[in-house]
Amino acid sequence: MVDWRNFGFFICALSILPLVCFCATTFVPLDNYLIDCGASANTSVGNRNFTSDSSSKGLLSTPQDVLATNPSNSNPSSSDDSPLYQTARIFTGPSKYTFPIKQKGRHWIRLYFFPFTYQKYNLSSSNFSVSIQNHVLFGSFNMQKNPVKKEYSFNVTSDTLVINFSPSDNSTAFVNAMEVVSTPDDLIGDDASTLNPPGSYSGLVTQALETVWRVNMGGPTLTPANDTLQRTWIPDQRFLLQPNNALSFSNVDAVKYQDGGPTMNIAPATVYGTLTQMNSSGDPRSNFNVTWQFDVDPGFQYLVRLHFCDIVSKGLNELYFNVYVDSSVAIQNLDLSMESNNVLGVPYYKDLVTALAVSNTLRVSVGPFSVNGGYPNAILNGLEIMKMNNSMGSLSSATGSVAITSGSSSKKVGMIAGVVVGVFSAVILAAVFVVLCKKRRRLARQRQSKTWVPLSINDGTTSHTMGSKYSNGTTLSIASNFEYRVPFLAVQEATNNFDENWVIGIGGFGKVYKGELSDGTKVAVKRGNPRSQQGLAEFRTEIEMLSQFRHRHLVSLIGYCDEKNEMILIYEYMEKGTLKSHLYGSGLPSLSWKERLEICIGSARGLHYLHTGYAKAVIHRDVKSANILLDENLMAKVADFGLSKTGPEIDQTHVSTAVKGSFGYLDPEYFRRQQLTEKSDVYSFGVVLFEVLCARPVIDPTLPREMVNLAEWAMKWQKKGQLEQIIDPTLAGKIRPDSLRKFGETAEKCLADFGVDRPSMGDVLWNLEYALQLQEAVVQGDPEENSTNMIGELSPQVNNFNHDASVSAVQFEGSSVDDLSGVSMSRVFSQLVKSEGR
Ligand SMILES: *[C@@H]1O[C@H](CO)[C@@H](O)[C@H](O)[C@H]1NC(C)=O
Ligand SMILES: *[C@@H]1O[C@H](CO)[C@@H](O)[C@H](O)[C@H]1NC(C)=O
Ligand SMILES: *[C@@H]1O[C@H](CO)[C@@H](O)[C@H](O)[C@H]1NC(C)=O
Ligand SMILES: *[C@@H]1O[C@H](CO)[C@@H](O)[C@H](O)[C@H]1NC(C)=O
Ligand SMILES: *[C@@H]1O[C@H](CO)[C@@H](O)[C@H](O)[C@H]1NC(C)=O
Ligand SMILES: *[C@@H]1O[C@H](CO)[C@@H](O)[C@H](O)[C@H]1NC(C)=O
Ligand SMILES: *[C@@H]1O[C@H](CO)[C@@H](O)[C@H](O)[C@H]1NC(C)=O
Ligand SMILES: *[C@@H]1O[C@H](CO)[C@@H](O)[C@H](O)[C@H]1NC(C)=O
Ligand SMILES: *[C@@H]1O[C@H](CO)[C@@H](O)[C@H](O)[C@H]1NC(C)=O
Ligand SMILES: *[C@@H]1O[C@H](CO)[C@@H](O)[C@H](O)[C@H]1NC(C)=O
Repeated sequence: MVDWRNFGFFICALSILPLVCFCATTFVPLDNYLIDCGASANTSVGNRNFTSDSSSKGLLSTPQDVLATNPSNSNPSSSDDSPLYQTARIFTGPSKYTFPIKQKGRHWIRLYFFPFTYQKYNLSSSNFSVSIQNHVLFGSFNMQKNPVKKEYSFNVTSDTLVINFSPSDNSTAFVNAMEVVSTPDDLIGDDASTLNPPGSYSGLVTQALETVWRVNMGGPTLTPANDTLQRTWIPDQRFLLQPNNALSFSNVDAVKYQDGGPTMNIAPATVYGTLTQMNSSGDPRSNFNVTWQFDVDPGFQYLVRLHFCDIVSKGLNELYFNVYVDSSVAIQNLDLSMESNNVLGVPYYKDLVTALAVSNTLRVSVGPFSVNGGYPNAILNGLEIMKMNNSMGSLSSATGSVAITSGSSSKKVGMIAGVVVGVFSAVILAAVFVVLCKKRRRLARQRQSKTWVPLSINDGTTSHTMGSKYSNGTTLSIASNFEYRVPFLAVQEATNNFDENWVIGIGGFGKVYKGELSDGTKVAVKRGNPRSQQGLAEFRTEIEMLSQFRHRHLVSLIGYCDEKNEMILIYEYMEKGTLKSHLYGSGLPSLSWKERLEICIGSARGLHYLHTGYAKAVIHRDVKSANILLDENLMAKVADFGLSKTGPEIDQTHVSTAVKGSFGYLDPEYFRRQQLTEKSDVYSFGVVLFEVLCARPVIDPTLPREMVNLAEWAMKWQKKGQLEQIIDPTLAGKIRPDSLRKFGETAEKCLADFGVDRPSMGDVLWNLEYALQLQEAVVQGDPEENSTNMIGELSPQVNNFNHDASVSAVQFEGSSVDDLSGVSMSRVFSQLVKSEGR
């Protein structure tokens, strides 16, 4: 029933909303000096009034200044600001403008120049520098024939801002107009990511920045009148390296500014609402980059701000792409749905600091995350490239790093080039050695991201320092303080002192407890048995893996505790437990085909990310339905990384003697040759697919012999083309034949005898998405299949949280078995050896 009072409130809220947004985003600068230099009257440009500096004389101090007017009537600029270029003030000696500052913080400083000839002054041959406080904005000015508007952003920390004009010997300086305008404090933060090596940069607040390029991808020129902060944005066409590869797209109405996200001040809707994307001409296998190239001054670092807004996708999580700056990966596997709280059309931006530029061009590329990852596309909505001051505080290549470009003395050039090359190779070396520093997604924006380096876990003394940090009460709250290492007391508190009633899973490794942090966040706490060497290795692997890999479809590590010889891992709590528990054996209501497909797609995404997300593939090694966990919305996350390995390079030198994994899921090729590749995970995933379809254990010794092993049994029926004979009876008649065929084929390919014949996880993902589409095509009119009631009926208490490495993993070194309830271990073992182990 509709509650009309609430409805009224809703309408109210709706009508207030635009007002609130409007108020929040209209920025009124406290300092707002707009000066038309050399003019005798005030000038109006667009909706702004520039005051003549004759009527604000107090600002200027100069030994001898000349008011100049452009004698020719040629219109120097096609844009609105042309009146500003008609007059200039000429300085024959050092001069300065002093602006009283009402509000400390970042200000725009915009300078307008157009060199005309006035009486004896030929401004084209003027030679001067401009500086503010301890920063040189530019040195010897290379005059062009055209009007130039230069924009700087500078954090003013005193009560006045002084802009100095210094003509060099016997020359003159001049300026046509200028702006000193406050900018919002949050426009440029203190932190950014670095590219090479990947890491984080802080200290942007002290940087003077010069806007070198500001580009509106796929859209028109935006003038100061189109931007709340009076910026100018130019179109991107001329920067595209291969214009045929690119396609522009526009849907300004789709842009949704949200609380906590970028505001209109970061970039206007006309920037976020247009973009340049891949011109794939409908080819699902398109794999190329869209690349822009910009001229830059070598010898400086640049702050690159990338603006994104997914206005192209039809649904969430369709768009996954990579962003490169020069040849470095700037953002890997960017998923805008995730960055914007699962709302399409929400703006997002990313700040990156480049290494010292050694060439005079900078390239930015976007390209698909991988082939066959689903829908190959990549987008960019806007781009700002800002030069950062060098160590001498200068933004000018004419001072400080002058030798790189001008080259008056070849010796000096050699020396400086040597330094630059040295720095560059040091940077490259660092990049080679620094493999860590993976950014945390999702929650990362609220939290200061910290690079976590695995500490020596054996070293008991290290816990002391951490313990003292929490000495005032030992409460743990992830919202306020995100630390991986958690004091034992906090874990005790969270689990009600390891209350046996809170146990949600038991395995060889130990017990898994449900827990609640002091801020109410639910967690799963896995407490290891007293240390065995084996357990310790897995404990460390799991921490290392999970602290590096953050993905929507990988379960997140919240913390760990190694105090007092404990091995405790704390994860996000997965309300609905394991996929396995929803398939059989626990009496939970059965999942619909669509739900099952979505779970398979989600977990395939997680695995795909592991295999391809980083420089070196990570192999999970224990893919099974008990290691796929479901959250309250049945979203799948892959768990349990205790056995994971990077590969395959590592294993060629270090031949692992123990084949690990779980019975029924184990890749026969890996078993035979002991050579580990990603394709072993693909095999195991294929088994999971059949498990999902048939809803029975992968090994069931109570069944007739030919049915014991699900992989063999299902393959037999798949090859006969009669897979529908053995599917979960609750799905009978509810799977569209096309969808089932696609699904069966996909699983079959995963189970190919040889790894090389198996598809990649990306292929699997693509095929599963296709199977879902085939199903969806018919489901629309079928209310029964659409039912979500099944989810509602689940009791939240039910939690078969049996997701432990050694729980159901049979290790050939002969440790624990639990999954095969009541089955003779040796019987299964000998069966496996007989059938696959030759
Ligand atoms: C220009 O505008 C300022 C205020 O913005 C005013 O004080 C001044 O008188 C004006 N000057 C002329 C010449 O109109
Ligand atoms: C600019 O000046 C004109 C008159 O000189 C005035 O009507 C207008 O409101 C001013 N605009 C702004 C934005 O101050
Ligand atoms: C001004 O100087 C520039 C170069 O210094 C020269 O090319 C140009 O002809 C001069 N213009 C006049 C009007 O003398
Ligand atoms: C400008 O002045 C600087 C120093 O005052 C001098 O080194 C440079 O050569 C001059 N540039 C030109 C183009 O005259
Ligand atoms: C500047 O001009 C004066 C006199 O006109 C001259 O003596 C001096 O050498 C000139 N300096 C330079 C750097 O051209
Ligand atoms: C400006 O610099 C000061 C001191 O360095 C810093 O505290 C402040 O946050 C900065 N403001 C902005 C907007 O960056
Ligand atoms: C920019 O502003 C001008 C003047 O207000 C307007 O005519 C134009 O349509 C605007 N452009 C965009 C893309 O909004
Ligand atoms: C997109 O690609 C197709 C085929 O490669 C080409 O014919 C077309 O002109 C391209 N579109 C643009 C806008 O460049
Ligand atoms: C895209 O550019 C990056 C960086 O230059 C490069 O590593 C990558 O291979 C390119 N991708 C494609 C598909 O060309
Ligand atoms: C930029 O200038 C500031 C102030 O002069 C200085 O503290 C900072 O180190 C400079 N930045 C770099 C990257 O050298």
